[in-house]
Formats: sequence, structure tokens, C-alpha cells
Amino acid sequence: MKLDWKCMKNSFKKSVIISLVLVYGVIAAGSIVRMTGSGMGCPDWPKCFGYWIPPTERAQLDWKANHPYTKGQVIILEEELRVAQRDFLSSDYYNDNNWNIYSQHDYAQFNAYHTWIEYLNRLLGALAGLGVLVMTILSFWSRKTNISRPIVSVLILLGMGFQAWLGKTVVDSNLAPYRISLHMGMALLIVLGLVFLLYTCKRKAFSVPGSIFIKVLAWLAVLLTLFQIGLGTQVRQYVDVQMDQPPRQWLDPAPLKFYVHRSLSLLVLGVHLLILWKLRKIKYSVKIFHQILLLIGLEILSGMVMFYLDFPFSSQPLHLMLAALLFGAQSFFILQLMSNQKSYDL
Ligand code: HEM
Repeated sequence: MKLDWKCMKNSFKKSVIISLVLVYGVIAAGSIVRMTGSGMGCPDWPKCFGYWIPPTERAQLDWKANHPYTKGQVIILEEELRVAQRDFLSSDYYNDNNWNIYSQHDYAQFNAYHTWIEYLNRLLGALAGLGVLVMTILSFWSRKTNISRPIVSVLILLGMGFQAWLGKTVVDSNLAPYRISLHMGMALLIVLGLVFLLYTCKRKAFSVPGSIFIKVLAWLAVLLTLFQIGLGTQVRQYVDVQMDQPPRQWLDPAPLKFYVHRSLSLLVLGVHLLILWKLRKIKYSVKIFHQILLLIGLEILSGMVMFYLDFPFSSQPLHLMLAALLFGAQSFFILQLMSNQKSYDL
């Protein structure tokens, strides 16, 4: 994979790379939120307990006499969240008329560690949104030479907005599992869009002569991996339910879907090895493909570490990140395979 150096200097390409790095950062942060159980660290959205900079101590959420409250600010009273109806100054006594009971969910706890992890996750999300916005603006400069750039950039921008909204519904639903999976699917779509944009900055596209079989195998490999990722999120949902048990029991007994997930990884590896063999036969060496193989190896290894070594700290986010990176690399490889040696220069 040889990227055009001139294009490298191009600010659009830089903005695509920065957006991609930030989006992967958000995926990593999201999975750390999940690992630490911090998803409900901020009960509301987009603010956190009604603040732009969240509280650090439980006492900040107690009701206080003669205290100015702003609309939307949250307190915890009698194990319930209450939301200020308007801006007001509290009197000597608590007045119910100034407060609404928070109705989205009944989770009313404060843990500074969870709150700040969730808050930093949101900040990173906002930063990624900003990165994509800048990228979208820059994409319009090359609309005459490559109309796909602004179109895909705008779609990604909309996708980021949708993803932020989905994030809110995940919190509102008290982390409903199917919404978390949808969130993951959307993140992969955004990665796909960004990889496509990165690809459009490549000087010369790559094509493999007489390689229909390799193309079919490559599509099979991506579809199998996507199925494997979907299955992985199902296993994850099962683990989430077991998480109040000691780690040794999270997958003991393990459900059938876990065994399918574990065995399918050998099929994923097998198909990729077949592609490697085919590429070698026609004497093509594709750098990204070696990275894909490395990612698959690491993915299988991290899965084994989780299962056989009782989910050591950070192994869960690592497994998820490797899967997201694998999907990004596969998308790039597929784009290389499917192209017709067009030049995508600015
Ligand atoms: C190509 C190979 C693989 C891919 C693409 C893959 C992908 C994934 C994905 C995307 C998840 C969901 C993670 C999340 O939602 O946080 C997951 C979960 C999981 N996978 Fe894999 N996986 C692979 C191989 C394996 C193997 C070989 C094992 C075990 C030997 C394994 C064990 C697990 C376990 C235990 C979970 C639940 C993780 C958790 O609770 O955080 N995986 N996998």
C-alpha cells in the first residue's frame, strides 16, 4: 500500500486520518466505559447531572438551602433523581414544585470515577464530531474532481449525529443490549466511510489481474468477520449479565454462541490464509493483508486470554478494538481489490 506523498500533505487527507484516529479513540473509550460499568455515570445527556463539567463529590448533588439552581440541574433526594424545572434560588425548605422527578430511568447513584470516565468518553466523542465536521468542510474543496468525498463526508457527519443520539437512547434505556450492538454497528459504518475517504487519497488504486476467486474469498472473509463481530457482541451481552459474579464464572457454563464464536474464528483465519496463498501464487504482496493477518492472530489470542485467564483487566476493550481495527483494514483491502486502477488524485 503506497500512499501518495503529495496527497499526504493535503489537509483533507490529514483531516480524514485525524477523524479516523479520533473515531477509534471513541470506540476504545466506549469499551472502557463498558468494562468499568460507567455507562450510567452520567444519568442525563448531553449534560452530566445537569452540568457541563460534572460533579466530583456526592455532596454536590445534595439539596441545599438558599442555593441558586439552573434549569436541568440534578439533585439526588431520597434515592431519586430530581431535575430543576427552571432557574431559581432555593429557600430554607425543599419545595417539590421546583423539581421534576427524572423519568427516563430510576438509576440514582453517584460514583465520581464512573461519572468522569463517562464524561471523558463524551468529550472525546465531541472532539471526534468536530474532526469530522472540519473534514466535511474540507471535502467540498475537491467536489469537482471527486464528488464522492463531500457525499461520503456528509453521510459520516450525519452518522456521527445519529451515533450521538443513539448514545443518548442507550443511556435512556439503561443500557439495553440491542441498542449497544446497534451502536457498535453504526461505529463500524463510520469507520467504513472514513476508510473509503482515506482510500480516495491513494494515488494509484491496486488491482489484482484475473483475481475473481480472490475477490469472492475477500468478500466472504469480510462477511464472516462481520458475522463473527455480531456473534461476539451477543457473547458480550451474555457476559454483561454475569458480571456481578466473579470473573471465573462469567462463561462457566458458557452458552452455545460462545463456542460457535470461538470455533468460527478458525474459519475466519482459514479463509484469510487461503487468500494469502492465492496472492502468493500470483506473486502479489499486499502490505495491508499482512496487517489483517496479524490483527486476526492478536484477536484470537486476546479472546483466548479472556476465556482461559478469566478476563484480565483491559482484555475486553483490547478484544473489541482489535475487531474494529480488523474491520477497518479489511475495508481498505476490499477497496483495493475492487478498484479499476483509477487515479484518485486531487
Ligand atoms: C476473528 C476472530 C474474532 C473476532 C473478530 C471477535 C470479535 C469479537 C467482538 C466484536 C466481541 C464483542 C466485544 C464487545 O462488545 O465488547 C467479542 C466478544 C468476545 N469474544 Fe471474540 N472475536 C474473535 C475470536 C474470539 C476467540 C478465539 C475467543 C475465545 C477463545 C473469543 C472470545 C470472546 C469473548 C469471551 C467475548 C466476550 C467479551 C466481553 O465480555 O467483553 N473471541 N468478540
